[in-house]
Amino acid sequence: MTWLVLGANGQLGQELMNLLKTRNIEAIGTDQKEIDFAKPTEIAEKLKKLNPSRIVNCGAYTQVDKAEEEPELANLINAQAVGVIAKFASEGKIPFVHISTDYVFDGTATSPYLENEKVNPQSVYGSSKALGEKETMKNNPSAYVLRTAWVYGEFGNNFPKVIAKKLKNNEELNVVNDQIGSPTWTFDLASAIVEVLEKKPEPGIYHVTNSESCSWFEFAQAIAKSINADSNLVKPTDTKSFVRPAVRPKYSVLSNCKWKDAGLTPLRSWKAAWNKAAPTVLSNL
Ligand SMILES: NC(=O)c1ccc[n+]([C@@H]2O[C@H](COP(=O)([O-])OP(=O)(O)OC[C@H]3O[C@@H](n4cnc5c(N)ncnc54)[C@H](OP(=O)(O)O)[C@@H]3O)[C@@H](O)[C@H]2O)c1
Repeated sequence: MTWLVLGANGQLGQELMNLLKTRNIEAIGTDQKEIDFAKPTEIAEKLKKLNPSRIVNCGAYTQVDKAEEEPELANLINAQAVGVIAKFASEGKIPFVHISTDYVFDGTATSPYLENEKVNPQSVYGSSKALGEKETMKNNPSAYVLRTAWVYGEFGNNFPKVIAKKLKNNEELNVVNDQIGSPTWTFDLASAIVEVLEKKPEPGIYHVTNSESCSWFEFAQAIAKSINADSNLVKPTDTKSFVRPAVRPKYSVLSNCKWKDAGLTPLRSWKAAWNKAAPTVLSNL
């Protein structure tokens, strides 16, 4: 049995490849050079040659702000290519996991989003990912779409690394305190991906994040604490003072009830995950 991880060089993809190795699960990882999602017509043939028995798609156009200038490319990579992969998996009866995002919601909720709530993306990236979910389920009703949020880990660049680097240089930083979500550690997410493909609950969309929630400001304070930096260097600001090309959801906490009710292992709180993750995530700054 060989797993195929698409987007194996990303922060989640690398974590998943490592986890599969430690569990002695045979896996092939591909990057953009090997399978380019911007060329959807070439994908099926390449997948066929690899002959996988499980497929996990961690690949995506993830540059949220840049996507505003490149909607066609974002849609090609995050939706059309995903539809092709989902169809290939469906035709070959290959269990398939696709990763999606909290950005499919508009962020106006005041309690955690359920899987069946209406999507209403506010950015090109969010729209392309919402379309990717649709393409997945349309082409492959047996697929699993795992929506996650605020992902960080040992690999790639991410919020904790950026914040910790600045704090180590004694730089003051302004961090928004009016966007609420659930920071999610790639190790816990990768473990959840393996679990869903081992236990095979009902197919469909699941929300998978570390539990409980915070603002980016609170997360930055936790990061400061874990490196013994002066937390007064982290100053609160708000979204309207920190305008960026793509709109971010103000509230994007995802309910993990469906995941729990399906008998899958609940993910620990974001704080517990961060305390465990911090030494590894911040080891090579
Ligand atoms: N990061 C977050 O906060 C967050 C939050 C919610 C959901 N997600 C979702 O979680 C998944 C994993 O995200 P991540 O943080 O691990 O992203 P990432 O580190 O940016 O990795 C994305 C991967 O996609 C690959 N990719 C980009 N364009 C491609 C193309 N044209 N063809 C093939 N591969 C391509 C990249 O490959 P190369 O390295 O070869 O360029 C990269 O390895 C994505 O679906 C993302 O939408 C992320």
